[in-house]
Amino acid sequence: MTPGQLRAKQLYESGHFEEAAQLCRAILSADERNAEANHLLGLILYRQGQNRTALGYLQRAVASGAATPRMYGNLGAVLNSLGDLGAAIDAYRQAITRDPANPWPLNNLGVLYRNAGQLDAAIEAFRRALAVKPDLAEAQVNLRLLYSSIVPQWHFAMMHDRARNDAYEAAIRRAVPGKRVLEIGTGAGLLAMMAAQSGATQVDSCEAVSVIAQRAAGIVARNGLAQRVRIIPKRSTDLQPGRDIAQRAEVLITETFSSNLLDEGILPSLEHAHRNLLTANAVTIPAAASAMGFLIGGSALGEMLFVDRIKSFDFTPFNEFAPPRLVIPLDSVAHEPLSADIELLRFDLSQREFPMGGRELAIPVTHGGICFGVALWIKLDLDSSTQYSNRPTAGGSNSHWPNIVYRFPTPLTVAAGETLRIVARHDRAEISIDLIGRQK
Ligand SMILES: C[S@@+](CC[C@H](N)C(=O)[O-])C[C@H]1O[C@@H](n2cnc3c(N)ncnc32)[C@H](O)[C@@H]1O
Repeated sequence: MTPGQLRAKQLYESGHFEEAAQLCRAILSADERNAEANHLLGLILYRQGQNRTALGYLQRAVASGAATPRMYGNLGAVLNSLGDLGAAIDAYRQAITRDPANPWPLNNLGVLYRNAGQLDAAIEAFRRALAVKPDLAEAQVNLRLLYSSIVPQWHFAMMHDRARNDAYEAAIRRAVPGKRVLEIGTGAGLLAMMAAQSGATQVDSCEAVSVIAQRAAGIVARNGLAQRVRIIPKRSTDLQPGRDIAQRAEVLITETFSSNLLDEGILPSLEHAHRNLLTANAVTIPAAASAMGFLIGGSALGEMLFVDRIKSFDFTPFNEFAPPRLVIPLDSVAHEPLSADIELLRFDLSQREFPMGGRELAIPVTHGGICFGVALWIKLDLDSSTQYSNRPTAGGSNSHWPNIVYRFPTPLTVAAGETLRIVARHDRAEISIDLIGRQK
């Protein structure tokens, strides 16, 4: 570094930006390609918010032939501030190639990939930053937040849902010995490993979220089952026979059910699997899935769904904003069933097609009271002997799946003996339940 460059750097570092900028300009008037002066002046302009002008200087600095990794890193920051994400990523990559032992450009690159929606690349960048400096707090936080935005937190409660696990295991043990199994939706690998342990000849299990699939493959190997369980990091509807799976499977296992049964896309996944991935008479686990319900009342629940008088004020116009359905763990909210349990919709999973549809139901009121809507829970017929449901119970169903309450437009005072007519429909992804009338 020449004495002039050194002085400009000292001025910059001591916060004398104007003097530093003047000195840089003087250096550049004699040597316009000077890397240090272009870099420093670019940085000063960037600090002053003149990002576009700063960009020109930083570009000249890196084109000078004396570019340092830091110059590329700062160029990346300016490009990012100007919204040129692709060029900013390239600049950080140049910085990393020139100085792979610096964790900061790796962390910054991860942030850019995350912002660009390239989540797997972001994970890799944060992991590399942590491989260089394991205690880099920024990369630790970035990686953790990214994982939790990609991997739904319900995985933990789900894996601990003993009733769910036991029901699947019972059906798996009966169906899979000596069979080729396909699982849709590996998660951490629990059901795939159960299938292998229960005597399946081969288990192919696909998982749409690649970071989950990668981790599941590690877990399967850790449990000594890598020879018999193959994790395919793909959405089932992207699997092709012959390319992704050698032969059609004889048993399909899937637990891709949401609280409203359908919105993880189970119906299109099954149609695709029957057409492309399964033998003609393949067994599905579960065999059938139902949306179950009862008429529901109870003042504590009513307060979650409606508002009328509070203190001496009338708030009823606010009810128009209330959601038509609300996810509620009914085990922990006092409520009163006002009818017997009814099957609202049932899906036989061996069917080849699941067109949208619905049905009208007449539900006899068994207990008088104020009815707020219909509670929904799910019932899985794993096979002809084993069922699972998250029906709310007084003692707590201990299910990880919460329930859903489909709210009527207004509370309805009902008497035992009358009948409410409702329609339950599905559009292959969502279930809707609407009140159509009452019969005294
Ligand atoms: C509810 S979890 C179940 C995980 C595991 N099978 C278990 O029961 O412990 C469902 C998983 O399936 C994945 N998934 C959902 N639909 C899928 C599809 N069509 N193809 C591949 N993966 C899917 C989700 O990303 C999620 O990780």
